[in-house]
Amino acid sequence: MKTQVAIIGGGPAGLLLSQLLDLHGIESVVLERRSRDYVLSRIRAGVLEQGTVDLLRAAEVGARMDRQGEIHDGVEISWHDERLNIDIKDLTGRGVMVYGQTEVTQDLYTARDARGGTVLHEAEVTGIEGIEGDGVTVHFTHEGEAKTLTADFVAGCDGFHGPSRKAIPESHRQEFERAYPFGWLGLLSETPPAAPELIYAAHDRGFALCSMRSPTLSRYYVQVSLSEKLEDWPAERFWDELRTRIPADVAETLVTGEPLEMSIAPLRSFVSEPMRHGRLFLAGDSAHIVPPTGAKGLNLAASDVYYLHRAFDRFYNHGTSEGLDAYSETALSRVWKCERFSWWMTSMLHDFPETGAFERRMQRAEFEYLQMSETARKSFAENYVGLPY
Ligand code: FAD
Ligand code: PHB
Repeated sequence: MKTQVAIIGGGPAGLLLSQLLDLHGIESVVLERRSRDYVLSRIRAGVLEQGTVDLLRAAEVGARMDRQGEIHDGVEISWHDERLNIDIKDLTGRGVMVYGQTEVTQDLYTARDARGGTVLHEAEVTGIEGIEGDGVTVHFTHEGEAKTLTADFVAGCDGFHGPSRKAIPESHRQEFERAYPFGWLGLLSETPPAAPELIYAAHDRGFALCSMRSPTLSRYYVQVSLSEKLEDWPAERFWDELRTRIPADVAETLVTGEPLEMSIAPLRSFVSEPMRHGRLFLAGDSAHIVPPTGAKGLNLAASDVYYLHRAFDRFYNHGTSEGLDAYSETALSRVWKCERFSWWMTSMLHDFPETGAFERRMQRAEFEYLQMSETARKSFAENYVGLPY
């Protein structure tokens, strides 16, 4: 097989990149190790920045999002029973879109199918050759056979555990990491959301988040220690824990139900530099991870893809490699600011087991500063709705 851009990974980054390249007349093949159903069953992000929304519209996959997604003009932060509403629309002129990653991925599959795009499932990449040479060869297994795909370039959109990042020689790669000593236990249920807006709740027992996917589908998270096991969390225990951490009036009216899905995700901040080596370009979780607190992971994958598709467009359609040469630096500049915001929000709202009395007062002071200062709220809102591309 031969193409212009080989894309490893059929998550949101890889699919969106292939769709945008196609709209610019550039050929690609997406190799995804999992089945389509498996990718669609992974419950992940729920909040899209305005920039992501605009990019999905430009990629001609925004119609269902515009019909079914919910625009939110504010979010809440709570501290036990104290509630602080941050009117992000009023502070920034922009809102965010509540529309699940599963739906975004489904819309991208539909669009790739409609345009005859090649997305190979159960195609696991086992090796990448030639990134420092004149062309790349991607080795993969598909339907029990070893196969190859040759291309001008390779886009590594294969998430944190994929092989692309590791194809950059260690001598050319620097990794920055902060692993947090806790994870999020998530629960999806067919129940009306606890409140009209998302609530990020800080509590002595740990952080909790009330989120949603639609007026009938809710998503909740509670901070848990990394040693917690899913089997020790029957739904009733989850609901009880959630109720203790969110404001009492919200807890009182919380509608509970059978979980459709429960899972534990560890929290991590991670960046690998650079995001390009020779003919290999990393985008999304393959290059960086943020803790989910700032709702930035999927949005960062989208901004990487924005820069990368424009760079390929300039290369193939305008004969200049300037965009490709600037890609790593341009993308990383935005990545680090989103890393900062996600780390800051995580630090403010979670219970850190090693935290002493001083740090707890610092967390409280952060909250009170947001309460008293419109400037602080504006800074929060500017980051939450998404920094410009
Ligand atoms: P992925 O979605 O991980 O896709 C990578 C793909 O590559 C996968 O499908 C994988 O199967 C494939 N792959 C891996 N190895 C190979 C191989 N060898 N060969 C072929 N294919 C391979 N982000 C937000 O913006 N907002 C949120 O509200 C938010 N909430 C989150 C909540 C949770 C609980 C979690 C876990 C994440 C959340 N995120 C959120 C983060 C977001 O889900 C990720 O940042 C996003 O999925 C990144 O997309 P990606 O395409 O880069 O990577
Ligand atoms: C979600 O709905 O899954 C979600 C929302 C906001 C976050 C993280 C996750 O910050």
